[in-house]
Amino acid sequence: VGDLASRWATSRVRTIPDFPKKGIQFRDITTLLADAKGFRKAVDELVQPYVGVSIDKVAGIEARGFILGGAIAHQLACGFIPIRKPGKLPYRTIGESYQLEYGEDRLEMHEDAVRSGDLVLLTDDLIATGGTAKAAIKLIRQAGGTVVAACFAIDLPDLGGAQKIRDMGVEVMTLCA
Ligand code: PRP
Ligand code: ADE
Repeated sequence: VGDLASRWATSRVRTIPDFPKKGIQFRDITTLLADAKGFRKAVDELVQPYVGVSIDKVAGIEARGFILGGAIAHQLACGFIPIRKPGKLPYRTIGESYQLEYGEDRLEMHEDAVRSGDLVLLTDDLIATGGTAKAAIKLIRQAGGTVVAACFAIDLPDLGGAQKIRDMGVEVMTLCA
């Protein structure tokens, strides 16, 4: 992603101090999403490296990863897989627990959402410590899928998440830091 596109997107993300806990600078993407040009450009920029790349499914992480993930899947003409918080998916699931910048959580995926050999693009709004994305990659791999790349609107590089994902052998693309 070019500098201009990155600065352009960054200027449309709002930072809320001390949410949801004291000390957290919360990156609020609702301002970017509510801007018609902002939403379109963010999705276009995230999709661009993967046009013409062989991808079967886009996996999005609840909740904010669904918004970008649905749009990205539509644009790439791929299927969409929801990776959800516990107890939300109706069919049989596989799950993985992880640490968050502000707590602990667990992700679940339908056991048949990814088929052996599927090429999957993982997406979320933001990568911080990388715990969430790491758990999602483990689930996709456990189901026999290959994570082709992971893309995020926002990277918080000081928390080292993107590097952790690269260390798992997954290419990472982010719109802004
Ligand atoms: C946020 C964000 C990512 C995750 C990143 O979601 O949308 O999924 O945190 O953090 P990490 O890289 O440190 O794991 P959150 O868990 O707040 O859930 P939400 O999208 O349902 O609000
Ligand atoms: N998820 C983890 N850390 C976050 C932050 N600082 N802002 C928004 N979402 C987050």
